Amino acid sequence: MPPRAERARARRIDLSADTGRSTILVGAGVIADAGRILRRRLVPGRAAIVSTPRVARLYARPLAARLRAAGFAPALLVVPDGERAKTLACVAKLYDGFLDAGLDRTSVVVALGGGALSDAAAFAASTFHRGLTTVLVPTTLLSQVDAAVGGKTGVNLPAGKNLVGTFQQPLLVLSDPNTLRTLPRADLRAGFAEVVKIAAVRDVALFRRLEREAPRLLAAGPRELAPIVARAVRLKADIVAADPRDRTGRRAILNYGHTVGHALEALAQYRRLRHGEAVAIGIAAAARIAVAARRLAPGEAERQVALLRALGLPTRVPPGFSARDIMHRIGFDKKAAQGRTPFVLTPRVGSASVVRRIPSRIVLHVLREMGADGRGVAP
Ligand SMILES: NC(=O)c1ccc[n+]([C@@H]2O[C@H](COP(=O)([O-])OP(=O)(O)OC[C@H]3O[C@@H](n4cnc5c(N)ncnc54)[C@H](O)[C@@H]3O)[C@@H](O)[C@H]2O)c1
Ligand SMILES: [Zn+2]
Repeated sequence: MPPRAERARARRIDLSADTGRSTILVGAGVIADAGRILRRRLVPGRAAIVSTPRVARLYARPLAARLRAAGFAPALLVVPDGERAKTLACVAKLYDGFLDAGLDRTSVVVALGGGALSDAAAFAASTFHRGLTTVLVPTTLLSQVDAAVGGKTGVNLPAGKNLVGTFQQPLLVLSDPNTLRTLPRADLRAGFAEVVKIAAVRDVALFRRLEREAPRLLAAGPRELAPIVARAVRLKADIVAADPRDRTGRRAILNYGHTVGHALEALAQYRRLRHGEAVAIGIAAAARIAVAARRLAPGEAERQVALLRALGLPTRVPPGFSARDIMHRIGFDKKAAQGRTPFVLTPRVGSASVVRRIPSRIVLHVLREMGADGRGVAP
């Protein structure tokens, strides 16, 4: 465990959907209880803990010890860090590892790490023997508030992100804010982008809390972070339960900030920008687009931009991105006056709607104002 690990009563959120049922426990010290918690829900047997080098060094040994003490026989499988885990080649290696570890249909896979690791490990688990039970132990803020909730698994193809995947709810998600102490500052900040997102589309009270407590939150401990993580999880779980397979449009509001965000990430080849940083810029863009389309009061957009800045997140397009390239990625054809991609906009902070016909000139204007093409005005 990290230095000064705290213990506190875990908050419990249940998610029930046609993709399965999940229990999400958020609390300082929940990893230390992992053995007992798993034992209550599973017959102990073979298991694999899948992790990345840095996270495995920090947390795998104590987690494995707890599982062993509860009667499980865990093997540790380590895969490359970040998006390098989200490849079919890495998944094939995981299948070999599962075979070597003697996993069968009754075994459990425990994914220990950030969102990239859990997407890949849960995808491998959900396809091995037609689907093993998975337990997620998310160790980044982003994965605790977002990636570990909702049952989406997947890997990337050279043609794009998350193009191959499954829906399978993890049996359990154990979110321990103690792990956030060792997270690099930039990764912690990036996680807050998804917290701002869910607050902006769904919960004005959470948004106000973030406004009150930022930037102090960047130095906060597990006790202060736990209620924020739990609230974000609850909000996402409710949205997912209403649209588990992302088919009816209800889940689409979780894409707030992701239209421009995904375009920037792709143009940066998933290297120059963290997902959360791209989403922060995307939220700032969506808020400004909403103002320009007369769907949001300017003051409400400025609140969103100010909150992102207070959390140390970028709100302008970094140098080197062309507005036309971003437009193209978003799905605006050269001559079309309107794009193909719907935008999620916030008519006010705390609520969202999906808007299909945003004029291209508005988007182009906003992107340039935000610094695309190296033009733009002061922030
Ligand atoms: N499945 C979903 O619904 C969903 C939702 C949102 C995002 N995602 C995916 O999540 C991924 C991004 O996840 P992420 O932001 O967690 O990034 P990540 O998994 O790449 O982790 C970021 C970095 O933090 C390090 N790290 C993780 N935990 C640590 C800890 N406790 N201490 C020190 N270092 C630690 C990792 O080694 C890595 O370098 C993307 O691939 C995205 O597509 C999935
Ligand atoms: Zn996201």
